[in-house]
Amino acid sequence: MQISPKILFGHCYGKFAIPAVNVFTMEQVLGLFCAGERANAPFIVQITPAARDYAHPEMLISMINAAAKIYPKAVYSVHMDHGNEEHAFDAILSNDYNSIMIDASHDNFADNVKRTKAVVKEAHKKGIVVEAELGVLSGVEDDISIDEKLAKYTQPSEVEEFVELTGCDSLAVAVGTSHGAYKFSGGEGIQFQILEDIQRRLPQYPIVLHGGSAVNEQEIKRINKAGGTLREGASGVSPDEIVKSIAYGVCKINIATDTRLLWTRVHREFFRDAPELFDPVIPGKTYMKEYEKFMLEKFNLLGATGTVSDMKF
Ligand code: 13P
Repeated sequence: MQISPKILFGHCYGKFAIPAVNVFTMEQVLGLFCAGERANAPFIVQITPAARDYAHPEMLISMINAAAKIYPKAVYSVHMDHGNEEHAFDAILSNDYNSIMIDASHDNFADNVKRTKAVVKEAHKKGIVVEAELGVLSGVEDDISIDEKLAKYTQPSEVEEFVELTGCDSLAVAVGTSHGAYKFSGGEGIQFQILEDIQRRLPQYPIVLHGGSAVNEQEIKRINKAGGTLREGASGVSPDEIVKSIAYGVCKINIATDTRLLWTRVHREFFRDAPELFDPVIPGKTYMKEYEKFMLEKFNLLGATGTVSDMKF
């Protein structure tokens, strides 16, 4: 059942978090829906503009709709991740998404407010919720690469005014996480005093954490053992920090890198171990199983397992 994140956030605030997972392929869509239904846990399936255009805008959405038929008990939202106005307005018109992100975080405060407000106005006419971003994350997301030097934490003193002026429904904050596999190279992890200050100023308001992948060391080792050359210094957000952030109002945790690393490990090991095979179905099936396992563990970590039963729609 497709549900607005507003309802999901109302249920989870301060208690558990909803994983928002970027999908690119059929295997990921199926793995996610299968895990969500099995765990009885809500999730947000999210599509970046680059993922949407990888095949055709209809393709991933059709796969999501098919997965919802195959797993009818799955409870999920469909979110456009990191859109600009063009993507956001397209998503609103399409009626396929019940949540969108307008990412104007690289602009100054006034421009960010202006751009976000315009998107919120259109989205709300159709009951679509809007995630905005204040502060700049470092790292790589699709074709956006943000230099470490540009990255700056969200200023808590700005959050109330931003939410008030824009009417956005949730806020992505820059509190130390970054996109990609090389987070925290020299950094200090999540800045909890900033999260605390934001929560004091915006009580009960849903906060979004981008850059939520754990970047498991064992996965990196396995990828490199099977021919990869990922930098050993790759690191992500520790499970403890992710869990701790929930009490500070973090409701949505974005995950993409971990599922890409999983894809890389499964396929590299397959080609290393069975060089005589050339059937995409074999590693595809392994990936779906491993993806499902990964998501079941993630739902457990975030406290989301079993929570669908307590929800009234
Ligand atoms: P990761 O790179 O940590 O998976 O973060 C993804 C993300 O924030 C997508 O918006």
